[in-house]
Amino acid sequence: MKNILVTGGLGFIGSHTVVELLEANYNVIVIDDLSNSSIDIKDKIEKITNKSFKFYQNNVCDKNILEKIFSENKIDAVIHFAGFKAVGESVEKPIMYYENNLISTLYLCEVMKKHKCNKFIFSSSATVYGTPEKLPLTEDCKVGGTTNPYGTSKLMIEQILKDIVISDKEFTPIVLRYFNPIGAHKSGLIGEKPNGIPNNLMPYIVRVASGELKMLSIFGNDYDTPDGTGVRDYIHVVDLAKGHIKALEKAFNTTGIHYYNLGTGHGYSVLDMVKTFEKVNNVKVPYKIVERRPGDIASCYADSSLALKELGWKAELDIEDMMRDSYNFILKQNKK
Ligand code: UFG
Repeated sequence: MKNILVTGGLGFIGSHTVVELLEANYNVIVIDDLSNSSIDIKDKIEKITNKSFKFYQNNVCDKNILEKIFSENKIDAVIHFAGFKAVGESVEKPIMYYENNLISTLYLCEVMKKHKCNKFIFSSSATVYGTPEKLPLTEDCKVGGTTNPYGTSKLMIEQILKDIVISDKEFTPIVLRYFNPIGAHKSGLIGEKPNGIPNNLMPYIVRVASGELKMLSIFGNDYDTPDGTGVRDYIHVVDLAKGHIKALEKAFNTTGIHYYNLGTGHGYSVLDMVKTFEKVNNVKVPYKIVERRPGDIASCYADSSLALKELGWKAELDIEDMMRDSYNFILKQNKK
């Protein structure tokens, strides 16, 4: 049984991936400092899977802890989710973002190298493409032109991984560029629960629908898109999690650096999202149109055919599943 270290394994995408890993019979070790999660997520993952896993409540920037984890466990591969991810906050606190996101990755790679662990799955983002050169985005599209330190930290890490591969032919990073993950596990036990007022569309919609927030602000309706509102490629977090299992299988059978877009290939506008949410969940989502949000692009969606060809992965769940599962999760949370 292979041992997989998952950093940030109690976060939104991390927790869903740990479920898939346990269900695929991997032995999982999680490091998470709970800065954007809570310990009850561990119990919930164990309840869903009926399996347990080892947990270190630590920050990945602590090199001594990484050393301890790699000495105590024979790690076969690392999936690196841990990192700060709020776009707006990254503009206000760039040093904190670069320090946390870059140093954690550098230390991980260093300790991995020392312990001869070479398989590394990295959570990157469609944000590395900046303003898309063409749509749908393929992995060979130009990267760069990121508009905030969060996005730039992802781009920098991609470059760092590329440089490590040049120096070390054994090192095998698989870079997964996520589009917009939403949805939740169908059990309703785990999902996305941002602290404070949400920045992203889906967490905001569910809070308006549940009555916790009054109204959704739609940021601009004068984009060059079919209805003027921003278009994105929303992907169910469970599909995304499954992509990591496929990437891991690939990592064990290859060398060099590989990049994959994980999206559905379908673009939905903000208005499409609101209307579909209302229909699927039979609830109203009041909204108003406001100014554009600085740094937003008009449209972004993936060509994920490379992931299908090389990983045998494609998204299976549709937009209605995403809407239903997102709302189910928040209703279950509120009932407690
Ligand atoms: N939007 C609104 N109102 C809101 C929130 C969002 O109208 O309250 C709109 C945005 O303008 C955009 C769309 O909904 O058109 C999606 O916005 P999100 O904030 O949900 O997602 P983004 O596409 O801006 O950003 C997401 C992640 C980033 C990641 C990026 C990759 O949050 O971490 O996708 O493209 F980098």
